[in-house]
Parts: sequence; C-alpha cells; structure tokens
Amino acid sequence: MSEFYALRRNAITDLSAFFGFLIGFLGSSPIAWPYLQVGFQTQEIVKGFAWFIGITFGSGVALGVVGLGVGRLLGSAWEGGHKVLRRARGREFAVAGAPGRGGTGPAIEVIAKAAAGPVDIALPSVRIASGVDAESLGALLVRAALPAPDLQRLRGSLGRTINLGAWDDGRLVGVVRLLSDGYEWSVVTDLLVDPACRRRGIGTALMRQAADRATGKLAVAQIPPGTEGFFRRLEAIPAYAGFVRGAKGRLA
Ligand SMILES: CC(C)(COP(=O)(O)OP(=O)(O)OC[C@H]1O[C@@H](n2cnc3c(N)ncnc32)[C@H](O)[C@@H]1OP(=O)(O)O)[C@@H](O)C(=O)NCCC(=O)NCCS
Repeated sequence: MSEFYALRRNAITDLSAFFGFLIGFLGSSPIAWPYLQVGFQTQEIVKGFAWFIGITFGSGVALGVVGLGVGRLLGSAWEGGHKVLRRARGREFAVAGAPGRGGTGPAIEVIAKAAAGPVDIALPSVRIASGVDAESLGALLVRAALPAPDLQRLRGSLGRTINLGAWDDGRLVGVVRLLSDGYEWSVVTDLLVDPACRRRGIGTALMRQAADRATGKLAVAQIPPGTEGFFRRLEAIPAYAGFVRGAKGRLA
C-alpha cells in the first residue's frame, strides 16, 4: 500500500472509529441517565455514577470498535474506487523498443496520448529515453525562459546524474535528472517540460521513469513555484524537513 493510500485509509478508519464512539457514548446517555438520577435520589451517587460511566463508555467503546471495522471497509472501498477513477482518467503509456535521439540506452517509453486542450504544436508521440546532451538541455532551458547554462559545466554535471529525456521527433521537450546513492536515497534534482508541451502527461511520465530508476527513498530537491499542483496530483507527500537551504554558505 502506498503512503498516500495508507494515510488516507488510516484517516478514514480513525474518523469512523471516533464517530462510532461518539454515537455510542451519546446514544446510550438516555439509557444511562436514570441510573445516575436514582443514585442521587438514593444517596448512592458513586454507584449511580459508575453505572452511568460504565454504560456510556462501554457503548462508546463497543461502537468505536464497530466503527473501526466499518472504517477499514470504507477505506478499502475508497481506495478501490480511487484507483479505478485514476485508471479511467487514462494515463496509459505504451512501451517501445527503439531508442530516441540522444539516448544512450534503449527507449523505455512512448507516450501516445492525444493532446488535451488547446495546442499550438502537433505532438503525436513523445519518446522517453535515457541520456540527455548539454546542447539540447541548454536549448530547453532557454525555451523555458530559464537562465542559459554554461554548456561545458552542464556537460560535466550531466555526467554525474541519471538523465532521462522526453524527445519529440529529435527535439528535447522534457527532462528529469536524478542523483542516487545507489542504496538509500535518490533525489530528483531537475524536472522540466517545454512550456509548449505541458499538460500532456510528459512530466508525469518522466517522474514515473525516475521513480522506476530510483533506489531507496525518492525525494525532489526543489518544487519550483507554481508546480505544487503537479506534485499533489502525483500524490507525492510534501515534507517540510530535510533539505536545508544556505547550509553551504554557512558551513564552508
Ligand atoms: C511541473 C511540470 C514538470 C509538469 O509537467 P507536465 O508535463 O505539464 O505535467 P503533466 O502533464 O504530467 O501533469 C499531470 C497533472 O499534474 C497537474 N499539473 C501539472 N502542472 C501543473 C501546474 N503547473 N499547476 C497545477 N497542477 C499542475 C495537472 O493536474 C495535470 O493533469 P491535467 O493536465 O490532466 O490537469 C512542468 O509544468 C514544468 O516543467 N514546470 C517548470 C518546472 C521548472 O521550473 N523547473 C526548473 C528546474 S529544472
């Protein structure tokens, strides 16, 4: 079970158990109340109170346990429904064998998804392949209105990361870069899709491939402003601990 589903299923179970307890506690109060009243009338307050507490809490706990079971069932039903809906939204990718341009390894995925919404360029198919060259990435960064990189340094840097490119007929339209310790951690250092090709599933496909290549836990080094919705849609859990900005300046 993924962390996303585990968290939500637990929340559904907890809520259901809580409401079960509440219903049991409040629902049994009218039955328990006379015991308390008789206790006061007969000066056996402790006895009356004990009955009252016993009945209300007993019912609360009993219905809480029932709520726990119901919550588990509801959680499973929700998870199943959610998965069916996600599949129905159609983010299916076919696997291809031919390499893409710039790819040093075999092509791993072809997106054959009809472009949604208004589009100004044709995008019949995009191929995702491992291996990205500095020139293509430099051009992509410029198209995305990001600072033009020093190509020589970028070339060296690309040699240190796992790089996956999304190629549209020889043009790099998306990239994801991954740093991995080969054991416990992998970190996405860069994720970028050509502005002209966004909202067609390329970013998701790149992240899926990155996740496939990642060893251990997968983290994303930076969430560029305005892209939070994309990561939410991926069901990635935001984590506020971990990366420390400014550490190099203070420690060096
Ligand atoms: C974030 C990014 C990679 C997403 O790529 P993409 O190919 O458009 O993503 P997808 O098409 O797979 O999006 C999947 C879903 O995520 C959500 N999503 C995507 N981009 C979003 C955004 N900017 N805001 C809110 N939700 C977003 C949508 O729900 C989308 O599904 P939909 O199109 O059916 O509504 C892309 O917008 C990008 O490159 N942004 C700039 C990143 C950047 O500045 N990087 C610099 C560091 S290198």
